[in-house]
Amino acid sequence: MGILEWATSPLGQRVPIHIAWFLIWVALIAGLVFLIVHAIYVRYFAKHKEFASEASPAEVLNLPARIPRHSLAARLFHWIMAAAMFVLLFTAFLPKVGVQFNWVTYHWIAGTVLTISILFHIVHSIFYMDFWSIWPDRSDLEDAGKRIRRFMGMSTTRPGKFAKYPLENKLYHGVVMLTGLAVIITGVCMMFRVRTIFFPRNPYLFSDMTWGMMYVLHGLAGVGLITLTIVHVYFAIRPEKLPITASMIVGSLSREFFLKEHDPRRWVVKGLSDRKDLAHGD
Ligand code: HEM
Ligand code: HEM
Repeated sequence: MGILEWATSPLGQRVPIHIAWFLIWVALIAGLVFLIVHAIYVRYFAKHKEFASEASPAEVLNLPARIPRHSLAARLFHWIMAAAMFVLLFTAFLPKVGVQFNWVTYHWIAGTVLTISILFHIVHSIFYMDFWSIWPDRSDLEDAGKRIRRFMGMSTTRPGKFAKYPLENKLYHGVVMLTGLAVIITGVCMMFRVRTIFFPRNPYLFSDMTWGMMYVLHGLAGVGLITLTIVHVYFAIRPEKLPITASMIVGSLSREFFLKEHDPRRWVVKGLSDRKDLAHGD
């Protein structure tokens, strides 16, 4: 049993047509196994996290009671993107496991919403957000080395606290970005195979081999997104992450939570003394 399904083109060439659908179950089970293993590890084996960096009393006093984490535009983007992603996953995979309905129309409409939301996010993150906050930097790698040594029971100095995003979130973002771009770029081309409101159907745009590879890439990235979404939602609903999840709804975190995990020198928050609306005019 291969991971692709093949057919013979009118020219007699053997071409891939899409992934084998048992990969849906592989992706689903991989996500569930990850969360079970992680939950057991945290419950019975994880040690208390200890960090090296501590904020000075002056830095703590300067922080507002609520620390802004996600702007309204970023939150709206996240939830629109997530809704489109769920519709895409269900419309793509339910019919493949036996739930039949007219899925293609809902699928390309959700695909269009995802594409537009990601285009918005790219512009927003480059010009309005702190662009570099989501990419790994040197301190992340040094601290990751220390965390791995500590995990293996080797001697090491304590790792520092996090900037806005821990390395794991940054890596997650990188993988979702790559798989997301893969489904979007292939998906936009695949819209030429079905009837949409955007352009006339043209199934002859690419050769059978190219179309086949495109469907394969779309399917592989698509099943990858099943695992990625399960893992992501699992972290969002873990009890210790709930304040972060709430920040994706209300926009901010408490100062206490911020100080527990984050380094104010690496994630610079607008302090009370920088805020003109609170200045006493001395
Ligand atoms: C989570 C993201 C997505 C997943 C899991 C997903 C999954 C799938 C799957 C499994 C198929 C069936 C392919 C086949 O029969 O071989 C498909 C087809 C298709 N997808 Fe997606 N897709 C996603 C995103 C997108 C996006 C963003 C677009 C558009 C921009 C899109 C447009 C299409 C189109 C036009 C088809 C072709 C339908 C056909 O030929 O009958 N998809 N998708
Ligand atoms: C019920 C569904 C979801 C919940 C509760 C949720 C929750 C969250 C939260 C709380 C954050 C902020 C993390 C932080 O501030 O550190 C976040 C960020 C993010 N979400 Fe979601 N999310 C959901 C669905 C999705 C889906 C379907 C995707 C795409 C596959 C997605 C992709 C992302 C990405 C790329 C980030 C930024 C990277 C990161 O902070 O890890 N989310 N999500």
